[in-house]
Amino acid sequence: PASTRPLPDGGLAVGGVPLAELADRFGTPAYVIDEDEVRLRARAWRTALPHADVAYAGKAFLTRAMIRWIEEEGLSLDVCSAGELGLAALAGFPAERIVLHGNAKSPDDLRTALRLGVGRIVIDSTGEIARLAALVPPGARQRVLLRVVPGVAAGAHAAVRTGVEGQKFGLPVAGGEAEDAVARILGQPRLELVGLHCHLGSQISGLEPYVTAVQRIVPLLARLRDRHGVTFPELDLGGGFAIPYRAGDPGFDPRAYADRVGGELALRCARLDLPVPRLTVEPGRWIAGPSGVALYRVLAVKRTGERTFVAVDGGMSDNPRPALYGVRYTVRLVGRAPAGTPRPMTVVGRHCEAGDVLAEDVELPGDVRPGDVLAVPASGAYHLSMASSYNLVGRPPVVAVSGGRTRLLVRRETLEDLRSRDVGE
Ligand code: LLP
Repeated sequence: PASTRPLPDGGLAVGGVPLAELADRFGTPAYVIDEDEVRLRARAWRTALPHADVAYAGKAFLTRAMIRWIEEEGLSLDVCSAGELGLAALAGFPAERIVLHGNAKSPDDLRTALRLGVGRIVIDSTGEIARLAALVPPGARQRVLLRVVPGVAAGAHAAVRTGVEGQKFGLPVAGGEAEDAVARILGQPRLELVGLHCHLGSQISGLEPYVTAVQRIVPLLARLRDRHGVTFPELDLGGGFAIPYRAGDPGFDPRAYADRVGGELALRCARLDLPVPRLTVEPGRWIAGPSGVALYRVLAVKRTGERTFVAVDGGMSDNPRPALYGVRYTVRLVGRAPAGTPRPMTVVGRHCEAGDVLAEDVELPGDVRPGDVLAVPASGAYHLSMASSYNLVGRPPVVAVSGGRTRLLVRRETLEDLRSRDVGE
């Protein structure tokens, strides 16, 4: 991953700061985020699609500083709760550039969005239409998108495949459900339907799923024009762009997406004599993932049978992804010269289950020992945001690095933080 750079002594640095130094200063486990890398990655999408709206998916990684960087780089922000919305408001993010998602938005989510004046709310179900309209103050109009399901299976794991029928998000393009919902939205004077939305899934490495989605959604746009006389100025195709977790894993090229998917959209619209809607994309992982590194300290090394287990001071509470999706990571020893022949080892966490594995069969130096610092690249997306307090282990801090400088963004969760929530006796 781009964010870790080798040092002359064989160690690793992020943003010009050696990782071992960060581990000493902030303790472990810790998340490190490279501000410069975040900005470069945000810019890569803006440059590839200069006329599109690029909305960073905050669920991947959200802190106030991250929201500022995203704002300064000219991106919009995709949020899916009053919590994410509130953090965006606290960071001063312009509400007009916020899009709110969710298959089960609470009254509080919707009210907060309306009060702040978010730019778009994505309607996910038929029942939500009247519920939202009833909350919009008289005389006001809320711009909305309708989430549709084009019937495209894409994504690294069944848990993140949202483009297929039979899962909880959106309304199918096939069978008329999406069309009926559009008719209902058009009948609500307090809602202004500006376009359709779809999100196919996550960790998608090819372009074809997006092309197929366009090929199914554009004819729907033509049917809606023919039936209701409406055309929409926007089309949001969601996120899902893959990153490599290990050497050799496929990635995703924003320029190729712009050419192929943007090209297909223009072509299909021209054929049906439709105006080409402005595209929105919602990259989350692609921006945050490779910009982050997780740091751990080795607590124990156990050789048993054929296997060597290297146990660290974090685990599934700060990274549930291997346990949830079977994801495989690389692990690097940092901060000292390695010795001993590299051998396959399994890096495990400190939690009370055998499934608490961070990295299966990774090559580590034969002399790896307690006290060593290990770095796991590509830890920026869906780590902090999915961390738990399992076993009452506090969640790690987030440290930002940029141009050789270091800044604490989120402090470590203390045992006092955790105990203070326990208010019964
Ligand atoms: N837009 C919507 C509506 C989404 O639901 C998501 C992700 C995104 C955009 C951003 O997708 P990305 O570009 O980051 O793939 N926890 C899983 C990933 C879940 C993704 C959920 N939705 C993981 O750790 O792999």
